[in-house]
Amino acid sequence: MRIPTDVLAVLSDRTRTDGHRLVLVGPRLTPALYQRVNEVLEAVGGRWTKTEGAHLFPVDAAEALAPVLTTGEVVTLGEKRTLAQYFPTPDPVVGRLIALAALEPGMTVLEPSAGSGAIATAAAARGAIVDCIERDPGYATDLLDTHVVRRVQVADFLTTPANPGYDRVLMNPPFTRGTDMAHVTHALRFLKPDGLLVSVMSWAVAEQTGSTIAFRKLVEQRGGLVEALPARAFAQSGTTVDTVLVTIPATRPADARPTVWPVRDLLTQDVEELGNPADIAAEIVADLRKAIAAFEEVAATLAKPEPITAPGTVEAT
Ligand SMILES: C[S@@+](CC[C@H](N)C(=O)[O-])C[C@H]1O[C@@H](n2cnc3c(N)ncnc32)[C@H](O)[C@@H]1O
Repeated sequence: MRIPTDVLAVLSDRTRTDGHRLVLVGPRLTPALYQRVNEVLEAVGGRWTKTEGAHLFPVDAAEALAPVLTTGEVVTLGEKRTLAQYFPTPDPVVGRLIALAALEPGMTVLEPSAGSGAIATAAAARGAIVDCIERDPGYATDLLDTHVVRRVQVADFLTTPANPGYDRVLMNPPFTRGTDMAHVTHALRFLKPDGLLVSVMSWAVAEQTGSTIAFRKLVEQRGGLVEALPARAFAQSGTTVDTVLVTIPATRPADARPTVWPVRDLLTQDVEELGNPADIAAEIVADLRKAIAAFEEVAATLAKPEPITAPGTVEAT
């Protein structure tokens, strides 16, 4: 967005930076103006930290602010979400991903597109030692604020040199135009020889097309496993894209079985036929209630004494 002139004036004339710190100087801003200034600072990675009496940045504060002052524009957090393909992994998917990884306390884990840490913090909570890479300084700061991971590097993972030192790579990279395949292929270079990678990926990799051939071959050669996630697994994060979980060992295991790719028709058919489990349960309860009411009516009728009628007369009903 184009930054309004009053906000730009505060950012250029009333800020002082010192390394990772930025302070606002001069008379107190009105709450409304402060909020708009803060929105810009947050968009470039700053977070107000009460104990420091300053906005702290994961990188040099002056460097973070420089492009904003030069261009008079900033990409807000809302705009960034869409541009960065920021779709945090919902808890049930994180749980399944970690189960597939057979994560154990003390294992070293890399999350190379960590966002604000949905996967990374869950792995750390299970006793793993977690390093993260995230391109966006704002999300990286959110993750740093959790204080549960060992390291957060603000960088483009795709240009980060390989370092084969991790027991596990756990990830949910961006998907646009097949970038998930590029991220996962690069991430495999960060595994120890007995390591394991588990990634959320677009359903597109399950389909045999020109752009997926090389990646599918890689998964098959390593003895990888592919599991379909339920439809709308990411609806709460703002996308209805279909997804799979792909597990790839660093080295093909001796007992590896052929990779089975999920088939979309079956998934769609299952979803259409079965519907939402909560709706199905509600329907069963309603049917049972109707059946009970019908039985009660029959029982009440049977309990009534038989009317004694004289031969040849008709009882009024
Ligand atoms: C789908 S979100 C997932 C976030 C997090 N992994 C999670 O599961 O909640 C993808 C994340 O990758 C980050 N990202 C995109 N391209 C990247 C790159 N080249 N290097 C590092 N991070 C990147 C985005 O900023 C975004 O936070």
